[in-house]
Amino acid sequence: MTDRYASFVQSAAGRALVKRLGLPDPPRLRRHHPGDPLLPGPALLGAATGGRLAEPLAKMLTAAGVELADPAATGQRYGALLFDATGVTDSTELRQLYDFFHPQARAVLPSGRVIVLGTPPRECATPREATAQRALEGLVRSIGKEFGRGSTAQLVYVSRADGPTLAAGTATSLESTLRFLLSGRSAYVSGQVVRVGGGTASAPADWDRPLDGQVVLVTGAARGIGAALAKVLARDGATVVALDIPAAGDALAAVANDIGGTAVQLDLTAPDAPTRLAEHLASRHGRVDVVVHNAGITRDKTLGRMDADRWDQVIDVNLSSQERINDVLLERELIPTGGRIISVSSIAGIAGNRGQTNYATSKAGVIGLVDSLAPTLRERGISVNAVAPGFIETRLTARIPLVVREAGRRMNSLAQGGLPVDVAETIGWLAWPASGAVSGNVVRVCGQSLLGA
Ligand SMILES: NC(=O)c1ccc[n+]([C@@H]2O[C@H](COP(=O)([O-])OP(=O)(O)OC[C@H]3O[C@@H](n4cnc5c(N)ncnc54)[C@H](O)[C@@H]3O)[C@@H](O)[C@H]2O)c1
Repeated sequence: MTDRYASFVQSAAGRALVKRLGLPDPPRLRRHHPGDPLLPGPALLGAATGGRLAEPLAKMLTAAGVELADPAATGQRYGALLFDATGVTDSTELRQLYDFFHPQARAVLPSGRVIVLGTPPRECATPREATAQRALEGLVRSIGKEFGRGSTAQLVYVSRADGPTLAAGTATSLESTLRFLLSGRSAYVSGQVVRVGGGTASAPADWDRPLDGQVVLVTGAARGIGAALAKVLARDGATVVALDIPAAGDALAAVANDIGGTAVQLDLTAPDAPTRLAEHLASRHGRVDVVVHNAGITRDKTLGRMDADRWDQVIDVNLSSQERINDVLLERELIPTGGRIISVSSIAGIAGNRGQTNYATSKAGVIGLVDSLAPTLRERGISVNAVAPGFIETRLTARIPLVVREAGRRMNSLAQGGLPVDVAETIGWLAWPASGAVSGNVVRVCGQSLLGA
């Protein structure tokens, strides 16, 4: 579970060897600690002519305590480069992005951030505008691969519908996403396209406790990513209901006690699990604001060697049980307006994986669940999103044979595996009341893995 190579390259001897032999050089990533500033240095803003977001963006950043750099200054290093590309309406105008980023390619500080804002191609007025806006993806994903030293690059498509409120400075729809992407919370998220728009977002009284007053259910909370999730969500102010199978009861109790949450021992695949869970949540809390479907299993075999039990168990735990639970919680109106459903998928569900037909099917199904539920639940003010982790350092990945494990770890832009806390912070952002305008997204937490890219 520890990446000994990454620790070694951060030593003096390691650094020398890496340089001499041209070995992979995993940078130390900037991770979030409460009270941290959003960025390690000033932000440089740029905008294409006619953009609609530059002004609200500058206002938001200043309010968040980010220092805005003087565009005329030379020789500066930046914590972030942000570019409002919403004014780009034709491919010839993409040159404005080259003009902004080209001189700054070496000016981004370690673990710095690159963020481009665009208009969703589907909302564009002309095919030319849609084409140019779609082109932004290629630029951002390539910057994620080029700039290095723990920096990340993302594209945020902001719905036109949010334009007037953003301009008036009355909407927080974009703010939660900006704060997440700029901060150390998004350490292992890179090369992503996030869509923001619609929905109701409310700013927290304290951005260091963005989940204050929220009741959150985390399944599979006894260990790994689920245990990290319980901790992060409680740190951010949530009351956490931690659920896992009875056999994991001791570990589950330890997690729940540690964070002042409650423990529910329940096998999610039991026929009465949805109703028992609904009754528990109704009687203890009267509602559940955020449901995080994290519990998951693998039962690997190539398809020809896989018995039906392995298939059934994986589909049932990873996908069907989520559907049954959603149905009952929604039917009983236990998830209120402003509620969140967040599922854990996997890059295996995007790229497929040898020996994991069952797992990849279940995890692709989770993406289907998000796609299909998000539009209908938007009407009820409930957002639905998924995260798709790549290689995360847990017991699950520690079981992978050494050579395959080492390859999996390094085959991404950050040249290292992620930590459970990286997945937890990403789920945390999607759970915030301030993220009500983020729905129907699948966000990979994979360091920009080459798999499924
Ligand atoms: N570790 C990774 O690299 C990685 C990568 C991609 C996706 N994921 C996904 O992230 C999630 C968490 O993974 P992890 O690595 O922490 O795994 P893990 O095996 O450490 O933890 C999973 C937890 O789910 C619980 N669980 C399993 N079946 C259950 C059931 N029927 N009812 C209730 N609880 C049940 C387990 O007891 C366990 O505590 C899973 O959905 C996994 O597929 C992990």
